[in-house]
Amino acid sequence: MTEPSKLLLKLSHRLFINDPEQQAAFVEALVHPRPLSSTILWTQPRPEAYPFDPLPPYSWQPNCTDRLPPMVQPGKHPLHSAGTIYCLDTSSVFAASVLQAIPHPVELVVDLCAAPGGKSLLANQILQPKQILCNESIRKRVKILISNLKRCHTKNAVTFNLDPSIFAKNIPNTAQVVIVDAPCSGQSLLAKGKKAEGCFHPVTLKKNAQRQKRILANAAQLVTGGGYLAYMTCTYAPEENEQVLQWFLKKFSEFSAVPVAPLLAYQSPLTATPCYRIWPQNQIGAGAFTTLLTKERSLNRGSTITQTLELQGFIDHFGWLLTI
Ligand SMILES: C[S@@+](CC[C@H](N)C(=O)[O-])C[C@H]1O[C@@H](n2cnc3c(N)ncnc32)[C@H](O)[C@@H]1O
Repeated sequence: MTEPSKLLLKLSHRLFINDPEQQAAFVEALVHPRPLSSTILWTQPRPEAYPFDPLPPYSWQPNCTDRLPPMVQPGKHPLHSAGTIYCLDTSSVFAASVLQAIPHPVELVVDLCAAPGGKSLLANQILQPKQILCNESIRKRVKILISNLKRCHTKNAVTFNLDPSIFAKNIPNTAQVVIVDAPCSGQSLLAKGKKAEGCFHPVTLKKNAQRQKRILANAAQLVTGGGYLAYMTCTYAPEENEQVLQWFLKKFSEFSAVPVAPLLAYQSPLTATPCYRIWPQNQIGAGAFTTLLTKERSLNRGSTITQTLELQGFIDHFGWLLTI
């Protein structure tokens, strides 16, 4: 992009009300993207001979991650092919950092929008669950998900290729943690110098917001009482983030948003509900929105034998082994 479109300028005004400086910086970060630091996730213990020169960590950064300077290409390091590291945009790590507020132990995590696998791998390191169900509803993306989980020696994962409604119908009230890293208009791709056709168009925003609401409504059924739902996107439009969150909290009043202490400085300026954002002009990453919700504990049915059998039956019937 060489010139900001009218829709981008309009979005900048809605995001940074009465703040022309931030509006200009936001637009500039998308029109003339600068190289961003990348982050590595250690999926295996760090080697004694540490091969990188990491940048100082942010206070919210999980211990299992290191931030590297922009020009370093950890994806080309032998530790990558060995499955010791997984490469991520720092925004992804920011979004997943809400998981650190969840108390341990965690039995079951369900990642409903999992490919290519970054949040599943982060959740596995942060939460150390007994089992993680990694779902990707788009068939052709399942292969990369399986390939990454396998490469990183993920032993406790089962993969699925299902619509989220099948989870809600078959194993309701089962998961301590559900992750919805939702499909979105992908506006932050521009901050990475990539293309995202029509990403500011109202029709795109509406379509994505509706899809996110549908996924979240199914996710709500899956979470057990006292459990957590992490909702995140990599786009900027409030229609897909704060507005979806407000809709969700109104419709599913058994959920509330959890304040996440290390992220308080990143509170979205667009709502008083606890949810967090980073912006591309701040150079932490391409940008992200994230929030952690919890379901009323009184709704916990306890882990019954029937529930355990239902879960095992579901895995046996729909799960894919980690083979390609
Ligand atoms: C933002 S990406 C997920 C990235 C992934 N969590 C990671 O960290 O590597 C969103 C994913 O949702 C999937 N998706 C698309 N439509 C969906 C739907 N209706 N229900 C669930 N997932 C969907 C997309 O194929 C995509 O893989």
